Amino acid sequence: MSALPAAFFPPTTPTPYSRTDFGPDFRWGVSTAAYQTEGSWAADGKGPSIWDTFVRGRRAIKGRETADVATDFYRRWPADLDLLQQLGIPDFRFSAAWARVLPAGTGAINTPGLDFYDRLVDGCLARGITPWLTVYHWDLPQALQQRGGWTNRDVVGWLSDYAQVLARRLGDRVQHWLVLNEPMVFTGAGHLLGLHAPGRRGLGAFLAATHHAALAQAEGGRALRATLPAAARIGTTFSCSYLTPWRPGLPRDERAVRRADAALNRLFVEPALGLGYPLADLPLLSRLGRYVQPGDEQRLPFAFDFWGVQNYTREVVRHSPYVPLLWASLVGAARRGVPYTQMGWEVYPESLYHLLRQFSHYPGAPRLLVTENGAAFPDEVRGGRVADAARQAYLQACIGQVLRARREGVPVEGYFAWSFTDNFEWAEGYAPRFGLVHVDYATQRRTVKDSGWWYRQFLAGADVTE
Ligand code: NOJ
Repeated sequence: MSALPAAFFPPTTPTPYSRTDFGPDFRWGVSTAAYQTEGSWAADGKGPSIWDTFVRGRRAIKGRETADVATDFYRRWPADLDLLQQLGIPDFRFSAAWARVLPAGTGAINTPGLDFYDRLVDGCLARGITPWLTVYHWDLPQALQQRGGWTNRDVVGWLSDYAQVLARRLGDRVQHWLVLNEPMVFTGAGHLLGLHAPGRRGLGAFLAATHHAALAQAEGGRALRATLPAAARIGTTFSCSYLTPWRPGLPRDERAVRRADAALNRLFVEPALGLGYPLADLPLLSRLGRYVQPGDEQRLPFAFDFWGVQNYTREVVRHSPYVPLLWASLVGAARRGVPYTQMGWEVYPESLYHLLRQFSHYPGAPRLLVTENGAAFPDEVRGGRVADAARQAYLQACIGQVLRARREGVPVEGYFAWSFTDNFEWAEGYAPRFGLVHVDYATQRRTVKDSGWWYRQFLAGADVTE
């Protein structure tokens, strides 16, 4: 995987725009997650999570890196929130680490752990920053993994109980809640491909985890609704990629696109809407049946107040008779000779526009927010500055695509860049840098990148003219 050619700039937006074009109620923020930033993995009574275990495994992470320290957010959060405030970023999405709050996953609360999130929320509010709390961003307590984790149906109740612990303590101050982060990724990468924690590889584990995660997103939503004040807004997030065929018009490639769409974009959205699993386009899912119990059909839907759309790229799909798993039929950007980021993901800002439209077309779809979007490049600090023109251009183009969708009537009401600071990019370790703020991991020094300064200007009302 090679870095983006220095000369590359993604497509620019067709017309100038500014923040005011989105209206006064549009939410603007940045997103992070606990395991990727907090560090202090065993501090103050925290229990281990599946990621603490996984990073210590044999084949887990590039460079054998761990997030034991990460960006040290657990200790540096006051300075980081100060920086957020200086950048004029009004909304901040972060997650709570389940095992910090409930070290065994269930039962006794670890008071110092819950206090941390209490202080963090107060710290946001004191600075005029609106907190958005993700209940689950992939760091299941290891104690629950020992009981089967996401493959054990009891996880639905465990997640709901944990969500209520957070809601009871923070619900008087946190108005915006997200139940799950990208269930497709933690089930697929974690249980089918073995690339993420807990490192399982198998169709059975994947299908069990899938059904339980789909139930948990709805039941978790209901648990929050039952506990939070009426003004609370409850959402959840979905990973998604715009999909196009390798050979347009070729029926078998078009079929492969529909299969991939069912798996990558529709698997968790449709059950939440009461449409069931997308079996017609992905018959393999009929094997989910063995995990479904009477009454589940009524438990899968939940009336979310919003969906968090999380998009980074598009995928080009081709039929592959040899590989039963549809991921293998994705044709990578490098092979196609198109520009790509440090993750190997094609730079394709229009993807976001297409997905916002696709999601908004469901009857009964709630409001949409882009709760993650961004790009990794191998940034360096030179003379106190990080010149990340490619990221800035990418963000400008993507935000332009959000505006395009909004102007066509898509009810998209917010945009959160991934990420505030550079952080631990899961199996890829620290190499991919997604932040608007650079982190020197040896010193923990923060340097605002050009893209971060640009975001500040934009939020202050400057025109985007490129
Ligand atoms: C999605 C995940 O939610 C986040 O944790 C990850 O770092 C970004 N995508 C980039 O891969």
